[in-house]
Amino acid sequence: MAEIALRNVCKQFDSTHYGVKDFTLDIHDKEFVIFVGPSGCGKSTTLRLIAGLEDITDGELWIDGELCNYLESKERDMSMVFQNYALYPNMTVYGNIAYSLKIRKVPKKTIDQKVREVARILEIESLLDRKPAALSGGQKQRVAIGAAIIRQPKAFLMDEPLSNLDAKLRAQMRVELQKLHKQLDTTIIYVTHDQAEAMTLGTKIVVMKDGLIQQVDTPQNIYDHPVNKFVAGFVGAPTMNFIECEVEKEFDKTVLLFATTGPVKKVYPTGRNEEILRKEYLGKRVTLGIRPEDIYEYEEAKASGFAKNSAGIRETVVTREMLGAEVFLYFDEQHRTHAVRLEPSNQTKVGETVDLYFDPNRIHIFDTETEENILNLYRKGY
Ligand SMILES: Nc1ncnc2c1ncn2[C@@H]1O[C@H](COP(=O)(O)OP(=O)(O)OP(=O)(O)O)[C@@H](O)[C@H]1O
Ligand SMILES: [Mg+2]
Repeated sequence: MAEIALRNVCKQFDSTHYGVKDFTLDIHDKEFVIFVGPSGCGKSTTLRLIAGLEDITDGELWIDGELCNYLESKERDMSMVFQNYALYPNMTVYGNIAYSLKIRKVPKKTIDQKVREVARILEIESLLDRKPAALSGGQKQRVAIGAAIIRQPKAFLMDEPLSNLDAKLRAQMRVELQKLHKQLDTTIIYVTHDQAEAMTLGTKIVVMKDGLIQQVDTPQNIYDHPVNKFVAGFVGAPTMNFIECEVEKEFDKTVLLFATTGPVKKVYPTGRNEEILRKEYLGKRVTLGIRPEDIYEYEEAKASGFAKNSAGIRETVVTREMLGAEVFLYFDEQHRTHAVRLEPSNQTKVGETVDLYFDPNRIHIFDTETEENILNLYRKGY
């Protein structure tokens, strides 16, 4: 059982440099929480603060209702798995997995039972007599995980445990980890800089940037309702397209206008986006965000009833990527390359033009100054 609560936690390395700032988060028992963000955003630091490997500069860390800022690492009962496996090279796989129980003077028979059980779960029974040097990367990783899960700690803290593995093995281990989480029925806090890994593994994702939490949410909400342009651009591949627009009134309609040269390109927003743009942004600039899969050709847009919400968006294809089940076309707008995902039946070639239609229910509008999603105005009680 582990309920972990961080309250305004800060880690200050020197007078000006923070690793983590004002970190507030509740981690519930048995949750699989992911810390994700670019290099240097403070993921490992936060994990190390929870583990007790770093001192907290300011704020509070509560574990199961107990204030733990000054509790020694070994008394926090957390088990860590690092990127570099940290196996003892002179010990066999068996010895490595058994180690933490051995130093706790657990009876030999119990240790043997547990090692075999862990080896069975991780499917490394046939490797127990080998030394780490004779294992592949993925096998070493399993042993490291085995060494961590042989105890039943309050929580597992994992810092990029799969980053040394190749893409295929990583995908396999992700599935294993999800199974393991169900079997162990324990809290896991998992650090990665890989957005795809975060989206597939976690039940709760914490997106960080520059030591600050940007958004805490389910993978689906992070993807569908990013609170700002950073989060929007961080998850999803190819990344969300961003286009600067003017907000204007056209008779009784609100319209987003963009185009660097040539005829005007327009998108007519709907719903709450339209309402906020009309009330707060007329005559101003905003940033429109749209994911590649939310852009369509005419026939589909017409069938879905939003062909009239886009006008004049004729783009020249600069790159075409055929992936079998889908085709990505790339076009330049405002000196940046944008992507659209279409049905593989689309035959547009490089150099040809294609007319595009944005799904108005799937567009995101960001304040150009603050980069916040304008819908946050609603969330804040607008
Ligand atoms: N011991 C330290 N002394 C000074 N600065 C540090 C120390 N440890 C980390 N930092 C700084 O704190 C910030 C956060 O570091 P952290 O290791 O938590 O990042 P991260 O999100 O884990 O990045 P990565 O994805 O590269 O592992 C970085 O700017 C880093 O340079
Ligand atoms: Mg790190």
